[in-house]
Amino acid sequence: MLKLPELRIGNLAPKFPIIQGGMAVRVSTAPLAGAVAKAGGIGIIAATGMSLEELKQEIREARKIAGDGIIGINIMYAARQFADLVHTAISEKIDAVFTGAGFSRDIYRWGKESGVPIVPIVSSAKAARMAEKFGAAAVVAEGTEAGGHLGTDRSVKEILPEIKEKVSIPVIAAGGVVTGQDMADMVKLGADGVQMATRFVMSEECTVSDQFKEMYMNAKEDDVVLIKSPVGLPGRALNNPFVKAMQNGDAPRPETCENCLKECSRDYCIMKALTNSCEGKVNEGVVFSGINVHKVNDILPVSKIFDRLLNEYAVAI
Ligand SMILES: Cc1cc2nc3c(=O)[nH]c(=O)nc-3n(C[C@H](O)[C@H](O)[C@H](O)COP(=O)(O)O)c2cc1C
Repeated sequence: MLKLPELRIGNLAPKFPIIQGGMAVRVSTAPLAGAVAKAGGIGIIAATGMSLEELKQEIREARKIAGDGIIGINIMYAARQFADLVHTAISEKIDAVFTGAGFSRDIYRWGKESGVPIVPIVSSAKAARMAEKFGAAAVVAEGTEAGGHLGTDRSVKEILPEIKEKVSIPVIAAGGVVTGQDMADMVKLGADGVQMATRFVMSEECTVSDQFKEMYMNAKEDDVVLIKSPVGLPGRALNNPFVKAMQNGDAPRPETCENCLKECSRDYCIMKALTNSCEGKVNEGVVFSGINVHKVNDILPVSKIFDRLLNEYAVAI
C-alpha cells in the first residue's frame, strides 16, 4: 500500500498532506478553511478582494472552527492590496501564506522576519528554483488542469517531476485532483502533498451560492473552457452566457473602477464577475473551475470528503 507522504511546511506538519486551495473572491472563506483545518488538512482563506478588516475577521472565525488545525491565506501578487493583506494576516498570526499570479521578493523577507512560511504557486522548474533560493518553505506545482488563473498550458503530470528534480523543499501538486486515485497518481510522481479546490467547492461548508454549486453539479467535460482574464493571464472556468459575451467582445466594460489590480486590461471587471457568481448571479459572472469538475457529483461535509479521499487512496494501486 502506498503510504501518505508526511508533509512539512516550515514547522507545520498537517495530519494529512491535503491543502484546500485558496479561492477568490470569497469562495474559500472561514467555514470551509476552518473545516479543512479541523479535518487535518490545511485550510486556506482567499484574501484577494477582501478588505483588511474582513480578512482579520475571517482568520479569527476560521481559528474558532479549526481548533489547533492549520490555517493559511492565499493572495494574488497582482492585487494592489497585496502587501497590506499579507501584513494583516501575519499580524493575526496566520500559519502560512500562499501566493500566486506574480512574483514578490519582499514576501520572503516578511516571512523570514515573522517566522511565517511562504508557499508560492509555480508552474515551472525555473520559478520553483528561484522561489527556493529566496526562501520558500514549499511550492505548489500547479498544472493547466487547475481552476482559476493559470501560469502554464502544461499538465501537472509533466511539470511535477521536473520541479521535484530541481528543488529540495516539499512540492505540492495542484490541478485536477478530485479523488484518492488522483492523489495517489500525484504521490507516485513525487508529490509531497496535494492542493485541491474544485472538490472542496462541492462541500457543505463552502459558502459560495447554491447557483455556483449547481453549475458544478451539472458540468460536463466540455463545459470547462479557457478564458482571458483582465489580470493578463488565462483562466479556467465554466462556459456560460458571460463567457460567450466575453469571447464575442461583448462583456460589459467596467462602469466604475476601484483600481484593485496593479495592472488590468479593463476589458471587464474580474472582481465584479467573480463576486456576481459567488453571490448567485452566475450568468453575469465568471465561475472558475478545474478540469475534472465533471467527476464531482455530490455535495458533502468536509469530514466526509476527507474520509472518502483517504479510503480511495488506501485502495489505489
Ligand atoms: C473557484 C476557484 C477560485 C480560485 N481562486 C484562486 C485564487 O484566488 N488564488 C489562487 O492562487 N488560486 C485560485 N484557484 C486555484 C486553486 O487554488 C487550485 O490551485 C486549483 O484550482 C487546483 O485545481 P482543482 O480545482 O482541479 O483542484 C481557484 C480555483 C477555483 C476553482
